[in-house]
Amino acid sequence: MAVMARHCPDIRFIVADIDAEKIRAWDSGKPPIYEPGLTEVLAESLHRNLFFTTDIGPAIDQADMIFVSVNTPTKTFGEGAGYAADLQYWERTARTVRAHARGPKIVIEKSTVPVRTAEAMEYILNQGGQPWRFEVLSNPEFLAEGTAIRDLEMPDRVLIGGADTPSGQAAVAELVEIYARWVPRDRILTMHVWSSELSKLAANAFLAQRISSINAISELCEVSGARVQEVARAVGMDSRIGPKFLEAGVGFGGSCFRKDILNLAYLCRYYGLHVAADYWEAIVRFNEHQQARFVRNIVHRMFNTVVGKRIALFGFAFKADTGDIRESPAIRVARCLVEERARVVVTDPEALDNARRELVDVADRVEFCSDPYEAARGADAIAILTAWRIYRELDYRAIFRDMVKPAFLFDGRNLLDPREMYEIGFNVFPVGSPPLVHG
Ligand code: UDX
Repeated sequence: MAVMARHCPDIRFIVADIDAEKIRAWDSGKPPIYEPGLTEVLAESLHRNLFFTTDIGPAIDQADMIFVSVNTPTKTFGEGAGYAADLQYWERTARTVRAHARGPKIVIEKSTVPVRTAEAMEYILNQGGQPWRFEVLSNPEFLAEGTAIRDLEMPDRVLIGGADTPSGQAAVAELVEIYARWVPRDRILTMHVWSSELSKLAANAFLAQRISSINAISELCEVSGARVQEVARAVGMDSRIGPKFLEAGVGFGGSCFRKDILNLAYLCRYYGLHVAADYWEAIVRFNEHQQARFVRNIVHRMFNTVVGKRIALFGFAFKADTGDIRESPAIRVARCLVEERARVVVTDPEALDNARRELVDVADRVEFCSDPYEAARGADAIAILTAWRIYRELDYRAIFRDMVKPAFLFDGRNLLDPREMYEIGFNVFPVGSPPLVHG
């Protein structure tokens, strides 16, 4: 909304949420999340044409368009538990909109939802006996964390899905006009609402599939002596494949990939397409395998025991440039190492508070430390779990000096030059290429 408000100074944007603490933070110009460039963009339109409130009813009534961005987590109960999307928040929101609206509205799905959610929501919205109609559009969000502002300013494409009816098409046209203020028209795709809903799930599944594919190759590389980065380069130079999203590592995290793929698989199963469901699910299963084998490797390489050993985890965020730890591979790595009775030390430039909250049940066995040098002091091993740039620029000679010998380096993001680290003295274990171990 902050990016939209920047490009549409003549339109009033009201962000409404039930979480008073978050709203207060946004309203004071200090977003409660870390995202490069966000504070600056927010400052441009805050209290000019961008407002934050917990007063949801009036916000609904005053609006012509309502973007619904409530969470749609994986269901944890009942039918579809562990797979299907939990739509209770979406449905509740639809009912809230219906209760407070005193005129027609365009309701826009920003949340990632299963195919045909818009249809169900339109039904609920239009069952209030009111003399006007609500139009429901799908407008999925493709931004990635850490690059959100750039992705919103220069999106590869914007999808707008609507019903094939005249009123549906009119609503689509209204939303197109807003995006067209800063997005080239040929990048604004309009389509049927179900295609738009499915495209978001499909795009995330394709992205995650590339990561699981290269990670599967990385496992083969480790045993065969091939090097995954060389293979990725060779594969990615085929213009039909392309070079992006082919970095092997400790596995993907983030709030979307796992949830959306399981949701896609559930949809396939719901329609009886079991082979297709198995196909998509395998991407998630392989990702779990990649994370598990990373930890297993740490234990095996350190002579099959890490009891009492100090292991520094460099990075806890699911990727660089965010404080978000949702589904971060670091969670599993930390928990497994705690279970193996290692002394785990977590460091991260932005995610330390979230890490502390996540690991609260094992807090007596984990240390948190903002300085990576301090985290590594007296450690037997370092495991790099997030590709923060600062970890590339540390003085590894000094770090090595202060570590217990032999010093192990497990580079879960292939962030460092293994040869260089080996020459400093580390036993180095990259993902997807042969380890470099001092004899
Ligand atoms: C993703 C999609 O990219 C975005 O379009 C969608 O709107 C939301 O989900 P996000 O989860 O923010 O965005 O991050 P992304 O950059 O896609 O990374 C996801 C995970 O994959 C991270 O853990 C990252 O480290 C990992 N990854 C990414 C790899 O392991 N290798 C790669 O080559 C790329």
